[in-house]
Order: sequence, then structure tokens, then C-alpha cells
Amino acid sequence: MALTLEKEQQRINCQKVSPTWGIPSLLDDVRDGLLQSPRKLPAKYFYDDHGSQLFDKICDTQEYYPTRTEDALLETAASDIIELCKPKHVVELGSGTSRKTRRLLTACEKHDCQVKYWPFDVCEEIVREASENLVDEYQWLDINGLVGDYNAGLEHLPHLEGNSLYVFLGGTIGNFEHEAGVSFLSDLRKTMSSDDMLLMGADRVKDEDVLNAAYNDKEGVTAAFNLNLLNVLNREIEADFDSEKFKHHAFFNQDESQIEMHLIATEPQTVKLSALEEEINFEKGDSILTEISRKFTFSTLRSMLEEAGFRLDEHFSPDNNYFSLVLASPV
Ligand code: SAH
Ligand code: TRP
Repeated sequence: MALTLEKEQQRINCQKVSPTWGIPSLLDDVRDGLLQSPRKLPAKYFYDDHGSQLFDKICDTQEYYPTRTEDALLETAASDIIELCKPKHVVELGSGTSRKTRRLLTACEKHDCQVKYWPFDVCEEIVREASENLVDEYQWLDINGLVGDYNAGLEHLPHLEGNSLYVFLGGTIGNFEHEAGVSFLSDLRKTMSSDDMLLMGADRVKDEDVLNAAYNDKEGVTAAFNLNLLNVLNREIEADFDSEKFKHHAFFNQDESQIEMHLIATEPQTVKLSALEEEINFEKGDSILTEISRKFTFSTLRSMLEEAGFRLDEHFSPDNNYFSLVLASPV
């Protein structure tokens, strides 16, 4: 048993990806976001260890259809994707628990395609945990975890011998504003060789009630996830947010075609940010914008890819068009 464990450990490596350009610290982001109007913060701060576990629970709620839908698409398409790309490496951006990636790894197994897996995430704990589970399930698999901030550039991703399938799932591209999303995909495009491919999941515009429900699950897991951001601030910048005095608010903004997630002050209050020697005053109803999640049509999705220098090769979508999985190549 001990020997097996040791062998499995040897199949896992984990390294930090250094930023291409300076990353603002949490203090900078608080100064430039939370202390400005409208108040907002980058989404990456959701994902401390607890936040990552909560996100995984969101994926299991009845209302949150994207995970199930994307997983079903991957289940049917994985074999074709692997046959088309025949990758030597699978590099996943924002991999989280890598739960849906299993579909691809299983297809690799089926096609005797010996890949190395490179999960890249800002949350080190989740990368380590996912890696340990995966080497256990796939006895042939070597994993090199990458820990870093993909917003700080992709130039320092390791240079890989042989072609790669880049994977970007969960509709996470929708968490970028349009310009930022295009520039992120263009940067990715620049690191790719002509025989690399991109597999990306994106959520689609649909009935407003379905969208709103997905970000307002009855069990309150999404609310807990959103409010956990205040705990992160309390811990990291010695703030004294009282999460009982804020409520989760998420709604579909039709004009912008995006879900917006806010934390709303339920009463007037002053919050101390000790590490910055600052205070924030909230009136009842004041909000912090914590996340956007853009919803695409097939056409907005394709034009974003084209703008970033990709050609769309394959498009997988269920009959109800709830979600899109696209396979694209650098032009
Ligand atoms: N791909 C998974 C998880 C999606 S949630 C799925 O489809 O279920 C978004 C993931 O991206 C989280 O695991 C989060 O930790 C990671 N993430 C968010 N911002 C990031 C950043 N700036 N750099 C790297 N990873 C980030
Ligand atoms: N990429 C996911 C999405 O846009 C992220 C997400 C789902 C999320 N639920 C959330 C982010 C709740 C913050 C809060 O669907």
C-alpha cells in the first residue's frame, strides 16, 4: 500500500507559473475596485480552499445546468475530439476539481493516446487534490499541476514537446468582459503551435428564468459561495465584514447578456479594512459586483473566437442549445 502511494506521488509534479506581467495584490485590487464606484472585485478571490469546495457543490445543485450539460456533451464528443487532435498533452485552464476532464482522459485511454495532464488553477489545494484523485483513477497518467493566475499572462506556461489540447471549460470565458476575453484568448493563441487545439465550453442565452435559477439555487450554495468572499477579505486584509449584513443577489441583465452577481448591504454599516487603514461606508442597498457570467449566442461565440485568431472546427451543443462546446484551431 505504502509502495503504491509512493509510486502515485511520483506521477504528480506541481509547479508555480510565474506571471508575465506584475499581478496586482489583493490590496491593490481592493483599492482599485472595492474602494471605487461601482464597487467590484476580481472573481479569482472566490477560490480559496473553501470557495473551491463550494463551487464544486454548486455544480451538483439541481438548478445549475451548465456542469451537467457540458459533461454530457463531453461524454458524447470526447472520443471524436481525441481522435481529431491526438494530443500529447492536455493543458486545462481553471481546472478546479477536473471533474469533467475525466471524459477526455477516458477517451485517451480508449484510443491509446498517452497524454500528460497539466491542470492550471489559482487554487493550489484544488490542483493537488484533483491530481491525487486522477493518478489513482488513471494508472498510466502523469500529471504536472500548474499554480498561478491566468490573467497575469500565459507566456510562462511550460514549453511542451508534442501537440497540446488546451481545455477551458465551465463557461469560465463568460467570466471575462468582452475585451478581456478576446485578449485572453489571443494570448493563448500566441502560445499555441499550429497543431494545438482549443476545447472551450461557453454558456448560451436562454430563458431568463432558467438562467436566474442557476445562480440562485434553493439550497443557497451559490449564496454561500458569494458571501465567502467576505470571509476571504476578513482573513486576508483584516477586514471586519459581517456576512449576516449582506445578501447574495444575482440576475440576468438582458442588455449586456450576462448574469451579474452582487453582494448587497442589508443595512447601513461601516466596515474597517485594517490592512489598508481604510473604512467603507455602505448604505442599505449598496452593492459589490463580484462576478459577471456572459451568455453567448452561437454567433457571438464564433465571432469572439475569430477575433482572437481561432477557426471553429467543431461545435457540440444539446437539442435545447443550453450550452456550447467548441473545438477550435489557431488560424
Ligand atoms: N473548469 C472547472 C472549474 C470552473 S470554476 C469546471 O468547469 O467546473 C473556475 C475555475 O477557475 C476555478 O477552479 C478557479 O479557481 C479558477 N480560476 C479563477 N480565476 C483564475 C485565475 N485568475 N487564474 C487561474 N485560475 C483561476
Ligand atoms: N464559470 C461559472 C459560471 O459563470 C462560475 C460560477 C458559477 C460562479 N456560479 C457562480 C461564480 C456563482 C460566482 C458565483 O457559471
